[in-house]
Amino acid sequence: MKNWREQLNPAPDAHTNAWRIFSGEGFRWGGIWIDHFDGRWLVQTDRDHFPEAFREAVPELATSLYWKKRDKAVKGTPQWIAGEVQAGPFEIVENSVRYRIDFSSGYSQGIFLDQRENRRRLLERVRPGERVLNCFAYTCAFSVAMAKAGGIVTSLDLSAPYLDWGKENLRANGIDPAGHFFCKGDAFEWLETFHRQERRFNGVVIDPPTFSRNQKGRVFRAEKDYAGLVALACGVLEEDGWLLCTGNTHHQPARDFEAAVREGVRRGRRILNHLESHPMPPEYGRESYLKTVWVRVV
Ligand SMILES: C[S@@+](CC[C@H](N)C(=O)[O-])C[C@H]1O[C@@H](n2cnc3c(N)ncnc32)[C@H](O)[C@@H]1O
Repeated sequence: MKNWREQLNPAPDAHTNAWRIFSGEGFRWGGIWIDHFDGRWLVQTDRDHFPEAFREAVPELATSLYWKKRDKAVKGTPQWIAGEVQAGPFEIVENSVRYRIDFSSGYSQGIFLDQRENRRRLLERVRPGERVLNCFAYTCAFSVAMAKAGGIVTSLDLSAPYLDWGKENLRANGIDPAGHFFCKGDAFEWLETFHRQERRFNGVVIDPPTFSRNQKGRVFRAEKDYAGLVALACGVLEEDGWLLCTGNTHHQPARDFEAAVREGVRRGRRILNHLESHPMPPEYGRESYLKTVWVRVV
């Protein structure tokens, strides 16, 4: 691991201070993934220990080092390794938008950095006054990007604390959450309710977890059930609307994900008039677990 410094990814642009600064697999150390959050490095490994070679990143390259083992079953808080102790939440900037980060939050730190390019697409494409829906909103990062662009955003999530975090993210950008809508509960049920109520949106973002089971026992597996979710989303779209379909479908080839989106549009009885597939941000190299398809339908 002598030359890890040469493999560091530069900041993606001058308006972003959080990104995947390093990823490497197959080293003597196993897999190592490092996210840079405005100077703080969060090191994740598939081994049980911190890769000591990186300790020297402080203070020259990083203000602090935190480490956690990458393990989906364990939602632990990262462990302090070196440098400044992060006492509480802090803010990062991405595409000139501010997001609150909390290293003591177990599930994730508040933002999925691999979705940066999708947040940029929303910033660029949502038109002022558009009514837009963010399903599975988590801390509302997509919602904040859409609100910054002038959209009127409805955010859906099972978790009230995450929606509250989303409101903080809006406030961090000088946006009053009162101008937007927040719905706690199951996104599948909300989509059915909105359809029945004839509540319609110009655009919908779908970014479900890989697996979800609601209180009634309804199971959703992204790699099998995505088409059904797209069909539900089509049911709340205006006649000429867009869908941003994304998700972590590790084992699914990109063409199968695209086929699922096409199938969902067909089941939703809509006509596809535009489809784009996008790769992950460049610093993720050959990784392709995150899929993105943007469609317009009539
Ligand atoms: C993959 S993350 C979504 C990430 C988010 N789109 C982002 O970019 O930050 C999963 C989120 O989905 C929520 N969730 C899981 N199952 C759900 C369901 N059935 N309905 C609504 N939200 C759900 C979780 O509470 C969590 O906040």
